[in-house]
Order: sequence, then structure tokens, then C-alpha cells
Amino acid sequence: MYFYRNAEMHMPQTLLFGQNSINALSSEVKKLGKKKVLFVTDKVMQQAGYVEKVRKLLEEAGVDSVILPDVSGEPRDIDVEKGLKVYKESNCDFLLGLGGGSPIDTAKAIGILATNGGKISDYMGADKVKNPLPPLIAIATTAGTGSEVTKFTIIADTKNDVKMLIGDSHIVPTISISDPMFTLSVPPKTTAATGIDAFCHAAEAYTSKKSQPLTDTLAISAIKLISENLRQAWCNGNNLEARTNMMLAATQAGLAFSNASVTLIHGMSRCIGAIFHVPHGISNAVLLPVWAEFTYIANPEKFADIAFAMGENLDGLSTLDAAYKAYEAMKRLCKDIEIPSIEGLGINKDEFEKYISKMAHDAIVSGSPGNNARNVNEETIIELYKKAW
Ligand SMILES: NC(=O)c1ccc[n+]([C@@H]2O[C@H](COP(=O)([O-])OP(=O)(O)OC[C@H]3O[C@@H](n4cnc5c(N)ncnc54)[C@H](O)[C@@H]3O)[C@@H](O)[C@H]2O)c1
Ligand SMILES: [Fe+2]
Repeated sequence: MYFYRNAEMHMPQTLLFGQNSINALSSEVKKLGKKKVLFVTDKVMQQAGYVEKVRKLLEEAGVDSVILPDVSGEPRDIDVEKGLKVYKESNCDFLLGLGGGSPIDTAKAIGILATNGGKISDYMGADKVKNPLPPLIAIATTAGTGSEVTKFTIIADTKNDVKMLIGDSHIVPTISISDPMFTLSVPPKTTAATGIDAFCHAAEAYTSKKSQPLTDTLAISAIKLISENLRQAWCNGNNLEARTNMMLAATQAGLAFSNASVTLIHGMSRCIGAIFHVPHGISNAVLLPVWAEFTYIANPEKFADIAFAMGENLDGLSTLDAAYKAYEAMKRLCKDIEIPSIEGLGINKDEFEKYISKMAHDAIVSGSPGNNARNVNEETIIELYKKAW
């Protein structure tokens, strides 16, 4: 029997899940009793007609929208400052993020500064946000980051080339909406990247030193759903069943890692993203098999559970051999959806090697690798970066 430590769960006050769950937005917003929202989103959401759809639902609730329409992918500190200025000058009293992780994380970071002041880098790390944020509605349009349910925001520090991880229970959105209908338009490459991001959240949470029974249940369910549905969502974006299952998995994985932490993959991948500006999901994906091959011996029982959830045949295998199957299954999943190697991302080898020591250092400082089942230090991380090339 496992020994479990005492644990906490933080989650949104209201979580709306399912096809067309967006239609409940007006009635939920009315309950907040607020008047003017800063609506944080990106150009693709406008072009797809999603901004207009959501704006109309807000209008039905008697709420005016001030739209911040051009959030960049992998949001930066300067985007947050710009957004805060608009929030204050327009006298907004709550926030909404519509999009993938980038607009939602931007809305969260604006919320931190709106009620706590200072600069966003003041909050890097854990539990530094003293005051509650304004009410925050997070509407996910990718099945990936889970940011719509998590207590994290990730913002690039443009001076130091670091992706800052900011974690605090105040950051969890008030209302979260996971409506898979939005994801039907996600192109295959983004479907692959975001789907593997969600897979990493689940696999890291399940094997984290901070895992607990509530997060384990969510994480293993997410692993099974992603293994059964990501290939189909990638091959045929109109497959609503696969899209719905992927959205469910991303939400489960988000709740799992928000309360059990990510580990080595995310610790290492944020550093690749900060320097080489690779999409978040891809920078995780290129590390996933290398991580599994390195880590499985530290917790073979849990890796064997993952292999089982991924549909591997484990008949007659020892626990250790079953655990190794998880590594093989992850490698195959990445191959099936055409995840490249780091080299395949077009990164220059000399440039990559030049930054390896900095990346290994920044990864350790972020704290995430400290939750990995197998202990690591900067030297080990350097070797793993080289192996992932
Ligand atoms: N806060 C958290 O808990 C958390 C967790 C993991 C990652 N993140 C962060 O989230 C960011 C990445 O988020 P992401 O992977 O969702 O990518 P993203 O938000 O940057 O979106 C990627 C691309 O997909 C497009 N897109 C989004 N939804 C679409 C749709 N329905 N149809 C068509 N195109 C669509 C976007 O416009 C963009 O071009 C990174 O900055 C990462 O660090 C945050
Ligand atoms: Fe992630």
C-alpha cells in the first residue's frame, strides 16, 4: 500500500465542461454582479468568430467588454504591463481569458498586478500573491495547458530570457469553461503540441513526489483518454468524440498537476521555450521519451500503471519490464503524431550547446525538477538535454 502525505486541492469555484457549455456563460456572469470585463484574447480567436460569440453572451449578462485582442504566443512581461494599463484606464472590474494557455495566462498575470501591484517578476515562484485577484473567467480553446483550472501562470521575463513559473492558489480562475466545440478548429500541429503538453502534465503529476490520491485518479484517467484519442484528434480534427475526450483529459491533467506539480519535463522545457521560442507543447514533447527512459526505474509501479493505461499488453512481465513499456508507448505516441527531435525544430546545434548550462541551471532554480521521482542535478540535466538533441 502507498503511503500518502496530507494534501490540498485547489480548483475553480465553477467548472463548466462539455459541448456548448459556453452557452451557460451569461447566467454564470450575472452571478458575479460585475459590469466591465477586460477580455484578453488573440487574433486567431477573433478571426474564428469566437470573440464575437463570447462578447454577445457577456452583453446578455449586462456586461461591457474591453477587448485586448493581440496577446502573443508564450506571453511576456511587457504584454502583461500593457494589459494592466488598459484594465486600469478602462475601469474594468473583472477579467476574461479566451484562447489557449497564452491569453489565459496573460489574464491571470494582469489580475495579479491589478490587486497586488508591483511587477510580474516579483511573484516568480510559489505562494507570493497576497491578495485575491479580481474574478477571472478562463475559457479554453485548446485541449492542452489546463490553465483554465490551474493555479499557475507562466510569463516570459524578457530581460533574463527566463519563463517565470508563478504559482499561488489565488491564481485559480473563478469560472472555468472547457467547451470542446472551440477545439474543432485547432490545426494538427497545435493539436499534437497541446495534446502532448496535457499528457506530460498527467504523467509528471502521476509520478511526482507531490502526487496524492485525488490527483492520481485524475492523472491516470487523463493518460488513458489521451492515449486513446490524441491520434484520432490529430488525424481528423472534426472528430468530436476525440476532441471532447481530449478536452476532458486536458482538464483532468490540469487539475492533477496544479495540485501535484509538474516535474523534470516542464522544468527543462520552459528553458528551451524561453531561449529558442519553441511552442510550449513541442518543447515538452521532445523531452518526454528521454524523461521516461531516465525516470521509470525510480518508481516502476507507477510507470507500469501508465503503461497499462496506455493500452500496453503487460501479461507475464515483471513490474520493471512493464514500467519500461511506458517509455516505449510514449515514444510511439510521439512518433505517430510526428513530433520532431530538438534538431528537427531547426535549432542550431552550436547555439543549443552554448545555452545548455544556463538551461540546466534555470531548470533547477524553477523547482520543478525537485519533484521528479528520480533525483537530478545540473550535470544530469545537461546529459538529458544532449540525449534529447
Ligand atoms: N498556466 C498553466 O498552468 C500553464 C500550463 C502549461 C502551459 N502554459 C503556458 O501556456 C502557453 C501555451 O498555451 P497553448 O499551448 O494553449 O498555446 P497558445 O495559447 O499560444 O496557442 C497556440 C496557437 O494556437 C492558436 N489557437 C488556440 N486555440 C485555437 C483554436 N480553437 N483554433 C485554432 N487555433 C487556435 C493560437 O491562436 C495560437 O496561434 C505557454 O506560454 C505555456 O507556458 C500554462
Ligand atoms: Fe505544460
